[in-house]
Amino acid sequence: MEKYSVSDCSMVELDRHHSDRKGNLTVVENGKTLPFDVKRVYYLYDVPGGENRGSHAHKELSQLIVAASGSFTVTLDDGKCKRSFFLNRPYQGLYVKPGMWRDLEDFSSGAVCMVLASEVYKADDYIRDYQEFLKFREK
Ligand code: TYD
Repeated sequence: MEKYSVSDCSMVELDRHHSDRKGNLTVVENGKTLPFDVKRVYYLYDVPGGENRGSHAHKELSQLIVAASGSFTVTLDDGKCKRSFFLNRPYQGLYVKPGMWRDLEDFSSGAVCMVLASEVYKADDYIRDYQEFLKFREK
């Protein structure tokens, strides 16, 4: 499996349809928007102020993380470098390649963190221990 670094992860501008009178619509479509097909969508919401989410890595999963509402910060860590992204636009997504430790924090009130994922849920794709993550990255 290819080893990615935080510099391989970036913000992706999503297709936006604007109407002055009726608001906005953003589309993510398999085969067009992302280099992976979406098999699962989940979203985090009602995160209490000051709480963090994430604190894990995925071995094989690719994800697009979108602030569908509100804002939060995602910090990615490849074991050597860290990179933080402030997400606050529903028409932008953070493309997270496999093998990144991620911490999500500073959720605004009413924030909705929508995640589009390349695979169905697999508990054994998670690494939840940071030391184990560093060993995984050294392999
Ligand atoms: P987790 O991925 O640890 O959440 P976060 O990183 O946002 O803090 O998931 C929290 C719980 O939800 C955990 O018990 C696993 C469960 N879960 C599913 O059952 N299916 C899923 O697709 C996801 C993402 C989580």
